[in-house]
Amino acid sequence: MSEIRCDVVVIGAGVTGLTAARDLVAEGLDVVVLEARDRVGGRVWTNTIEGQLYEIGGQWVSPDQTALLASLDELGLATYSRFRDGESVYVGRDGVAKRFTGDIFPASPRTESEIERLIGVLDELTAEIDPDAPWQHPRARELDTVSFKEWLAAESDDEEARDNIALFIADAMLTKPAHAFSTLQALLMAASAGAFSHLVDADFILDKRVVGGLQKVPLALADGLGDRVRLDQPVRTLHWGDDGVTAVTDDLEVHARRALVAVPPNLYGRIAYEPPLPRERNQMHQHLSLGLVIKVHATYETPFWREAGLSGTSFSPYQLVHEAYDNSNFGEDRGTLVGFVSDEKADRLLALDPDERKARILASLASYYGPQALTPVVYYESDWASEEWTQGAYATSFDLGGLTRFGAGQTTPVGPLRFGSSDLAGLGFQHVDGAIRVGHRIAAEISAEIGVPA
Ligand code: FDA
Repeated sequence: MSEIRCDVVVIGAGVTGLTAARDLVAEGLDVVVLEARDRVGGRVWTNTIEGQLYEIGGQWVSPDQTALLASLDELGLATYSRFRDGESVYVGRDGVAKRFTGDIFPASPRTESEIERLIGVLDELTAEIDPDAPWQHPRARELDTVSFKEWLAAESDDEEARDNIALFIADAMLTKPAHAFSTLQALLMAASAGAFSHLVDADFILDKRVVGGLQKVPLALADGLGDRVRLDQPVRTLHWGDDGVTAVTDDLEVHARRALVAVPPNLYGRIAYEPPLPRERNQMHQHLSLGLVIKVHATYETPFWREAGLSGTSFSPYQLVHEAYDNSNFGEDRGTLVGFVSDEKADRLLALDPDERKARILASLASYYGPQALTPVVYYESDWASEEWTQGAYATSFDLGGLTRFGAGQTTPVGPLRFGSSDLAGLGFQHVDGAIRVGHRIAAEISAEIGVPA
């Protein structure tokens, strides 16, 4: 067992941990980052599968994500726009694929205007929510104790309109069924992106990608930290008290004045705390859980849908793949589609054998793009739920009532321990932008607290 002494030990080399570590080092503090995996980046992972570069995890950047945009600028990373020229496709309850332009899915005129009305109602409510403190809304408890599904049912008698509005938050963001999270949690998701209508506008929320992959961000951050980042070092135990903290891995003991636990909240309980964490923390952690989504990548010799005048953007609350996009890489001739299968649909698919699952997913893609979608040259499913150091995707959210009950305490330090990740962000909640914001905030708080060496 080797021993290291430093000012701050960071647990987790995702974007949150690495951003904080970089700021702390820039302040002159001595930092060690302990990462469980054999790579940095956590939920951001750019990998090559059968010769094809894929974004296994996070990838898109939107214009409101100013913290991420600033990091990209600082690290000198170039971006490019997602391909979006042409018509989008919507598959309605009748199973028929319809082409459309703009944000509102083509349904009956009544349903279309109901969708627009609900977006307006949600935009107004969202504008009242402080993403850093949604529990302070005057009706927070009421909104936090009614599921988004129930709220929608009370708000509209148009089932197809409700299904479509639910899709933007449930399938597409929290990756949980709309009966499993509160309306306040849904409003936080929208407020964290600036407006509910931003979540509806794919051209806004899925605007740009990083040339070469988003993992270039954590890789560049880690590069600047050099051998301060230790891979293959899952932290098993944190001893903490007035004198500081000791993080114990299988072969290292790192003694520090402060620790940042920068792992997703569903994994807090995998670390043993000596002494145990306070009661309210133990409770809080059990009310935060990760959603589930299968991110599907299918690459073809050419982006054949473009020749048919399609942008590659597709939606349907009634399809296994509820949304799909042209995800062709910058400068490539091949065309790649990316699609998403969430929550209970993902449960059902994951129970099948891989060939059957692939066949069903490709059939769902074919319902949007035609039979050519059935025969990709490379096919891959990101399976974050099987990853020991994540266990789901995209991020964690509270169960019903959890935000008002525990939210205000989630960023409160426990002695020398601080907890932070994109899951605890206000602006940029659940996104890389939020990870960067949380990393900067906690680094500033720690250096203000322990001072900067002369
Ligand atoms: P993250 O989980 O990345 O990092 C935590 C780190 O802690 C990991 O490296 C983990 O291995 C490590 N760890 C865990 N336990 C440990 C222990 N005991 N000891 C040591 N290390 C430990 N965002 C976005 O902005 N745009 C997008 O398009 C998408 N899309 C998307 C798709 C998919 C499939 C996923 C899974 C996620 C996204 N996201 C996204 C979300 C985004 O990727 C995510 O919010 C951030 O990367 C989270 O960064 P953090 O550093 O907060 O946690």
